[in-house]
Amino acid sequence: MKFTITLLVGLLSGLGTALPQDVASTAVSDCLGQNDVPVYWQSAPEFPELAEPFNTRLNYTPLVIVVPTTAKHVQDAVVCASHCGVKVQARGGGHSYASYSSGGKNGSMVINLEELHDVTLDTSTNIAKVGGGVRLGNLAQKIYDQGKRALPHGTCPGVGVGGHFTHGGYGYTSRTWGIALDTIVKVDVVLADGSLKTASNETNPEIFWALRGAADSFGIVINFYVQTEPAPETVTFFQFGWDNVLTSKDTFTKTVLHIQDFATNASVIDERIAFGMNLEYGDHFTMSGTFFGKADEFNKTIKPELLRTLPEPTVINNVTDLGWIENLVLFGGNPTLEEPETGYDQHDNFFAKSITVPEKDGLSANALNSFYDYISDSKGSPTSYFVIINLYGGPKSKINEKSTAFAAYKDRDSLWVFQNYGENAIAHPEIIPWINGLNDAIIKAQPETDFGAYLNYVDPSYTPAEAHELYYGEALYKNLTTLKQKYDPKTVFWNPQAIGTS
Ligand SMILES: Cc1cc2nc3c(=O)[nH]c(=O)nc-3n(C[C@H](O)[C@H](O)[C@H](O)COP(=O)(O)OP(=O)(O)OC[C@H]3O[C@@H](n4cnc5c(N)ncnc54)[C@H](O)[C@@H]3O)c2cc1C
Ligand SMILES: *[C@@H]1O[C@H](CO)[C@@H](O)[C@H](O)[C@H]1NC(C)=O
Ligand SMILES: *[C@@H]1O[C@H](CO)[C@@H](O)[C@H](O)[C@H]1NC(C)=O
Ligand SMILES: *[C@@H]1O[C@H](CO)[C@@H](O)[C@H](O)[C@H]1NC(C)=O
Ligand SMILES: *[C@@H]1O[C@H](CO)[C@@H](O)[C@H](O)[C@H]1NC(C)=O
Ligand SMILES: *[C@@H]1O[C@H](CO)[C@@H](O)[C@H](O)[C@H]1NC(C)=O
Ligand SMILES: *[C@@H]1O[C@H](CO)[C@@H](O)[C@H](O)[C@H]1NC(C)=O
Repeated sequence: MKFTITLLVGLLSGLGTALPQDVASTAVSDCLGQNDVPVYWQSAPEFPELAEPFNTRLNYTPLVIVVPTTAKHVQDAVVCASHCGVKVQARGGGHSYASYSSGGKNGSMVINLEELHDVTLDTSTNIAKVGGGVRLGNLAQKIYDQGKRALPHGTCPGVGVGGHFTHGGYGYTSRTWGIALDTIVKVDVVLADGSLKTASNETNPEIFWALRGAADSFGIVINFYVQTEPAPETVTFFQFGWDNVLTSKDTFTKTVLHIQDFATNASVIDERIAFGMNLEYGDHFTMSGTFFGKADEFNKTIKPELLRTLPEPTVINNVTDLGWIENLVLFGGNPTLEEPETGYDQHDNFFAKSITVPEKDGLSANALNSFYDYISDSKGSPTSYFVIINLYGGPKSKINEKSTAFAAYKDRDSLWVFQNYGENAIAHPEIIPWINGLNDAIIKAQPETDFGAYLNYVDPSYTPAEAHELYYGEALYKNLTTLKQKYDPKTVFWNPQAIGTS
């Protein structure tokens, strides 16, 4: 057996206490060692930090953490896990709400992709080659620096492309350009049998289809090839705040219903605008977003329609032309977009749920009244929370132009997507039933509507059957199980809600 330095250090530091005990882990250890795969065992000094997920509420302990520097390392690690009956999950940015990138249970193999963080823009095709372990902020900055290019994706610079691009990916550019997933034209992927494949519309199209929506169950993306857009010279950032909207049920419901009318009125808006309504801790109601045009045009044509019939905003921020990167920085909330490529160490502890609201129904007054009653209940929430309601649909939205024929991704007909996020959930676990109640307050008050849930806000409290129904629906899920049988019959890629898990 030959060892790399990393492995040797890993094993030696494991000798004292936690050298893998059972047969499977000894076998995995031998197999990884024979293949010179860089690994960290539980007693390596680096292990605790590498293992810590973004959501520390769900802190699983992997059997072993693999930190590959080549695709070959990933292939060998997957083969070793498969031979030894160990489950595998990739870790991109580690931001899974359910900590699935820590395995979703103790004892899995986690393949942490942080060393695969290159971004290279081909300036003739404008396709960027993006490593599976890149974070959104670094991606945005690098494609801008390399050719003034841009992509649609979420706002938080620490989120990883690995999970984000393969399970949706919404940002304030998505009504204009689509979700992040829509930009993928090709991937290099390691499958459950350890093979390294290129997948695109032309080559391995079944895998390409399944990975875009269910990558956690089908493979480990080593590189994404994504079609970039020219970064606009400027966009308009806008933010309005009202201290006088959550003061009464009637005002709240009328306000949201007006914004819903505005958002669906084709004589007022097109695909060049996206925004979210935010409720912070039940006190402030704000609305912020991006308009792909000049602030002047926004002020003249859009703002009056938005504000018509609404209470006077208490705060108006930054209705102003901003450079592309400045706009991303403002939404990102940090002084720059850059994040550490390796050794990222930010965390939260929370429980969050989502609701997708079909465009054909929208939100009813009944549902909004019920929501208001719930948040204004005198007992209050056990700890702080926020709600973001993002606009997905409306006239000419690029998100909703596609169907499940394009990719294994269902959420193509939402008008709104809610995120209901309870903070400080370790100290206050009562926030979990409270957030569940918040979801129910909306869903139960509008029983005729077939609400779903957003895959990138994956909610571990659902049973596998509930998750499959909410995230995929019957037809899509059936096709995915057929492909799972074909490409991963031993269920090497697993988390508690993986395709084929019951
Ligand atoms: C602070 C914060 C802000 C967010 N903002 C937004 C937002 O604005 N818009 C939005 O749409 N979402 C947002 N999200 C949700 C985010 O999109 C998801 O949590 C996303 O899945 C995270 O990707 P990741 O690579 O960081 O996560 P990880 O936890 O690393 O991965 C998530 C899942 O994808 C799998 N996976 C990861 N990498 C790969 C790969 N290379 N190949 C195959 N499978 C892989 C993992 O195994 C895991 O099952 C936010 C989340 C947080 C915590
Ligand atoms: C996972 O392992 C940790 C210790 O590493 C332990 O505290 C925890 O209870 C385990 N969780 C489960 C679900 O077994
Ligand atoms: C794949 O092909 C389909 C059918 O031609 C097309 O609609 C779709 O846009 C293509 N997808 C990509 C990512 O190129
Ligand atoms: C759409 O907006 C226009 C311009 O304000 C208005 O005249 C029209 O009544 C609106 N349509 C609907 C259905 O609200
Ligand atoms: C747009 O209107 C806001 C007030 O609503 C103002 O603060 C801002 O300066 C205006 N921007 C432009 C470019 O006119
Ligand atoms: C935008 O508004 C925020 C909050 O009021 C403020 O801190 C920031 O300086 C403003 N940025 C720009 C570019 O105007
Ligand atoms: C599932 O696969 C069948 C057969 O290939 C196809 O006709 C159908 O459109 C697919 N359905 C979905 C939702 O992908």
